[in-house]
Amino acid sequence: MRLVVDRLGKEFPKAKGETLKVLDDITFSSSEEETIGILGPSGCGKTTLLRIIAGLEKPSTGEVLLDGSRVDSPNPKMGMIFQEYSLLPWLNVAENVSIGLEIRNASEEERREKVERYLSLVGLQGVAENHPYELSGGMRQRVAVARSLTLEPAMLLMDEPFAALDPQTRGEIQESIIRLKEVTGKTIILVTHSVEEAVFLADRLVILSARPGRIHKIILVDLKRPRDRASEEFVSLRVQVLNLLSDLAVASKADR
Ligand SMILES: Nc1ncnc2c1ncn2[C@@H]1O[C@H](COP(=O)(O)OP(=O)(O)OP(=O)(O)O)[C@@H](O)[C@H]1O
Ligand SMILES: [Mg+2]
Repeated sequence: MRLVVDRLGKEFPKAKGETLKVLDDITFSSSEEETIGILGPSGCGKTTLLRIIAGLEKPSTGEVLLDGSRVDSPNPKMGMIFQEYSLLPWLNVAENVSIGLEIRNASEEERREKVERYLSLVGLQGVAENHPYELSGGMRQRVAVARSLTLEPAMLLMDEPFAALDPQTRGEIQESIIRLKEVTGKTIILVTHSVEEAVFLADRLVILSARPGRIHKIILVDLKRPRDRASEEFVSLRVQVLNLLSDLAVASKADR
């Protein structure tokens, strides 16, 4: 699925008729089956941007197009995954994963088949009967990913989905995102504070400046897969992006 973000701007109303400009003139696009990593200082509008792409929030100016059609309401072709796991504690894993299908009145057979398929795709076999409290954080987040996948969205929007995980678990779940990408070919838009994660997963990086978020730079991640985090090219790109971000953070402090 092809995403076009065209001259997007967003202002929120403040007290006394003032407005807070959060996003300004954001333009980028994804090709089919691309993973885009979005990076930028805290408060620069990344979550707001994802919410607008998902149709949960209206832009003040500009527009978002999905395969050429304008987004103006929540779209079932988009799956959104947040930092919090948002699983329902009283349901077991299989029930959590199939909840969207249940809402759509899918048959029991379809539910069973998809729960099995998507749990195994995220590397979670044998926990269907368990409850969320019995799982580690990384497993819970995989359940959340499997739940989005059952609705077969063409695009996955992820807002710092792995921030709460320890590095080891985070590495494992990153591998399962790569496998998912290879198997399903979905377009993924990933907001993350981890430069390493962005360079590992993304085909392209969109770097936003401090609020109001503007496009600071778009970088093609031209590294072969499987990517080696210890390779010279990987480290050099990671350092380049880290430097960019720390300059942006310094510039935003100097503005205040
Ligand atoms: N519904 C809203 N009403 C008013 N202001 C909002 C609203 N949503 C977000 N904001 C403001 O917009 C700015 C950008 O918020 P946003 O959550 O998009 O930033 P972010 O880049 O995701 O930050 P972080 O990296 O900390 O998650 C913040 O100043 C926030 O207070
Ligand atoms: Mg955010």
